[in-house]
Amino acid sequence: MEIKLLDDPAEAVADLLVETAAAGGHIVLTGGSSPRRAYELAASRLPDWSGATAWFGDERCVAPEHEWSNFAMAGAALFSRLESPPEIVRMEGELGHEAGAGAYEAAVRERLGAEPRWDLLLLGLGPDAHVASLFPSKPEKEITDRLVVGVPEAGMEPQVPRISLTLPAINAARHVVFLVTGASKAQAVRRAFGDPPDPTSPGAHVRPAAGRVTVLLDPAAAGR
Ligand code: 6PG
Repeated sequence: MEIKLLDDPAEAVADLLVETAAAGGHIVLTGGSSPRRAYELAASRLPDWSGATAWFGDERCVAPEHEWSNFAMAGAALFSRLESPPEIVRMEGELGHEAGAGAYEAAVRERLGAEPRWDLLLLGLGPDAHVASLFPSKPEKEITDRLVVGVPEAGMEPQVPRISLTLPAINAARHVVFLVTGASKAQAVRRAFGDPPDPTSPGAHVRPAAGRVTVLLDPAAAGR
């Protein structure tokens, strides 16, 4: 695991996105607000993503055009700005958490098999140290026999059910990259990546067996 303190970590994330997209890789996008600028920068640096495939780490169970949709955010910040978009395999939040998770599990297994070795998997970190939609106070973080899980109750706003990759799916990636910014995340960063990490933090369990983790922090997020 490599932890990097950068004035503008979104720049580094954009570079990784561009490098992986140009190589035709499988990229798992993250939601929330932190990655927006990284997506915009990546789109402006590389207009042709046609060889790549974009996946999602989690989704809110709303329509794809809803303001809470992670797909809608990625669409506005990334896909719509490209001359040639990647193949996009989105989580269908509008199906509901159970059916949506089942459909995504099938899509992952069909294309990538039971051990999806994504080339680049981006994650944010919640102030409660959640990753994707695996919350410390909820049972889905314990699921080990599925790649995708339905989350009936979110542990944080927005309070809608979610679809999320499980820890085994996340840990199958070749390279997991966290982008974490702002003082409100400092305690979560300490819980997930401190020495020792706090085992109640889902972020502390993101440790790919055959891959690497890069944690990109701004000075405020690294404060603790
Ligand atoms: C989601 C996310 C989630 C996010 C963190 C950080 O759909 O909510 O994928 O895990 O990465 O909550 O979100 P912010 O960047 O908005 O702080």
